Amino acid sequence: MTSLVKPLKIAGVGYNVPGSVVSNNDLTKLYETSDEWIYTRTGIKERRVVSGEQDAVDLGYEASKMAIENAGLTPEDIDCIIGASSAPPEVYSLACNVQSKLQIPNKIPAFDLTAACTGLIYALQVAKGMIGSGIYKTILIVASDNNSKLVDWTDRGTSILFGDGAGALVVTESDDGIDDIIRLNISADGNIGHYISLRYPSNNCPLVEQSSKIDDGKIHMAGKDVYKFAVTTVPKYVEECISEANLKAEDIDYLIPHQANQRIIEAIQQRLKYPDEKVISNIKYYGNTSAASIPIALAEGVKQGKIKLGSTAILCGFGAGMTWGAAIVRLRQGIC
Ligand SMILES: CC(C)(COP(=O)(O)OP(=O)(O)OC[C@H]1O[C@@H](n2cnc3c(N)ncnc32)[C@H](O)[C@@H]1OP(=O)(O)O)[C@@H](O)C(=O)NCCC(=O)NCCS
Repeated sequence: MTSLVKPLKIAGVGYNVPGSVVSNNDLTKLYETSDEWIYTRTGIKERRVVSGEQDAVDLGYEASKMAIENAGLTPEDIDCIIGASSAPPEVYSLACNVQSKLQIPNKIPAFDLTAACTGLIYALQVAKGMIGSGIYKTILIVASDNNSKLVDWTDRGTSILFGDGAGALVVTESDDGIDDIIRLNISADGNIGHYISLRYPSNNCPLVEQSSKIDDGKIHMAGKDVYKFAVTTVPKYVEECISEANLKAEDIDYLIPHQANQRIIEAIQQRLKYPDEKVISNIKYYGNTSAASIPIALAEGVKQGKIKLGSTAILCGFGAGMTWGAAIVRLRQGIC
């Protein structure tokens, strides 16, 4: 019996990071810290930050343009945009703003989903459902965050970790019957959502009692809890995803993990028993760019020759919510 579910093709990837670099040494101007403290605990040396009028929409637009071009398409070919952002600069919404900047003439649907640093994997799952059921044929996924506007720059426990950036993927209905998503699992546990929180600045109506919650629009994080969660949950989850696909870790060519902490990346690497050349890590230069970190690592990895195309990779993400997910994907020639 032939499947009625239409296969998905990853047709193009792109990324963009802002030009301004903030090194660990630069951070010593803000608070008592050191390059050595940050680097040994996180693997981060520097991060990129937006400046002036630039924000996540600009980064997302550039990444999208690159992904569309790499897919051999034009903006007019896109028939839906999914934005993945923790907190877009304009809440209503990253995807609509990117649609406008791309000057797409048709009023194609554009919306955001929020799954923080797992946003790209969640967006891929939504796109898979849309392509699979034939609703849309060509979807742009744009993952972009300007974390530097969201961290409290007096909090040295969180502001050392994050950076800004964008990644984008164009996915289409596959024309050769091959589905580039071999397996995709997503999960969430709202009971531990308080590990990382970001509440939009807001106040109750002045005529009623005010809330005591901290609605300051800044990221608050229980770093140790997040770390423990990540190293216990994610490596096991990735391993389960591989076995549910009836594969073995050695059957997959690359691990492209969310870039949150080099020690967390190494915990996943050890579980899969992968040598360094199979693991894509650029956290040293960008820090944690939320949902953008996986597509940045993917697109940059291809550009730098670390990832050879015509291969497979396991993408895995985790973050606020708490949310997590893993996807085993095919990386075709020509996507970047
Ligand atoms: C943030 C993180 C690096 C902190 O490392 P840690 O070993 O847990 O450090 P702690 O927060 O316990 O702090 C240890 C000490 O260093 C101090 N410290 C914290 N940040 C510091 C900094 N940037 N520089 C110097 N000292 C610092 C603390 O004040 C504390 O001092 P004390 O013992 O005198 O109170 C680590 O918890 C982490 O990476 N967690 C995961 C976070 C993450 O990935 N989040 C995103 C998920 S998508």
